[in-house]
Amino acid sequence: MTDSIRTAIVTGAANGIGSAVVDKLASLGIAVVAVDLDADGAAAVASRVRDSGLPATSLAGDVSDPALSVAAVDAAVGLTGGLDILVNNAGKGTVQAAIADTELENWRRDIEVNLTGQFLFCRAAIPALIARGWGRIVNVASASGMEGLALAGGYAAAKAGVIALTKTLGKELAQTGVIVNAVAPALIRSEMLSRPTFRREMLESLLARIPMGRVGEPSEVAEMIAFLASDAVSFSTGAVFDLSGGRATY
Ligand SMILES: NC(=O)c1ccc[n+]([C@@H]2O[C@H](COP(=O)([O-])OP(=O)(O)OC[C@H]3O[C@@H](n4cnc5c(N)ncnc54)[C@H](O)[C@@H]3O)[C@@H](O)[C@H]2O)c1
Repeated sequence: MTDSIRTAIVTGAANGIGSAVVDKLASLGIAVVAVDLDADGAAAVASRVRDSGLPATSLAGDVSDPALSVAAVDAAVGLTGGLDILVNNAGKGTVQAAIADTELENWRRDIEVNLTGQFLFCRAAIPALIARGWGRIVNVASASGMEGLALAGGYAAAKAGVIALTKTLGKELAQTGVIVNAVAPALIRSEMLSRPTFRREMLESLLARIPMGRVGEPSEVAEMIAFLASDAVSFSTGAVFDLSGGRATY
């Protein structure tokens, strides 16, 4: 029985920020269920954690599929007997277009993956977290959810929704031992930035707005997520923690 080990579900675990989060949590002795569309990538991440001597498993699927969130919680319970931490990190960039030109199908997909996916994983995880009497949910939002982002309206609206979801859950769960916070990164080095859908002009204009004059690293996001997933945070819930190199002024 490995009941004394904390166990985390990390979505979008195969690449970028999610992969760095898995490594950071494993370095703290936390077991992991790695969830991603990318089956091979998620399996590789879980195998890396097992090599370090901790329980880990992977699940492949789309976070907007309600069955996946239920399966992930079952996998955590099967792995160590319970669930302690949910990191809702999976997300996708948008097909860039002004709102006036945005196809309904693309809008819906932005919301489904970037917002509904996080709702589904929160909903599935809450009973298991409450059963432990201790839990941490960290939702990955975005600076665009605070500010809006021209040519990425569906993505920005979804991330604003993640912030409202986080604030709502913070209030709903405030007396359960389950703490819910969000991080709002600005520009972080990852595959998302090199995808063809992410235009070079957008990258340059986002970079120009960061006072530190550089992109952030996935490991810098992972540090803050690990902090928010720990005992160190005990009187902050429903809050949004900025990772923007000095860009945020709110
Ligand atoms: N990179 C940035 O500048 C930046 C800025 C703000 C917020 N974010 C957010 O950070 C999170 C992680 O992004 P990243 O930068 O590491 O990007 P990334 O593309 O490197 O990683 C995203 C991961 O999510 C997975 N994924 C995508 N859609 C999925 C789905 N429907 N179901 C399951 N898995 C899915 C991908 O396969 C990938 O492994 C996302 O929520 C993103 O919106 C990133």
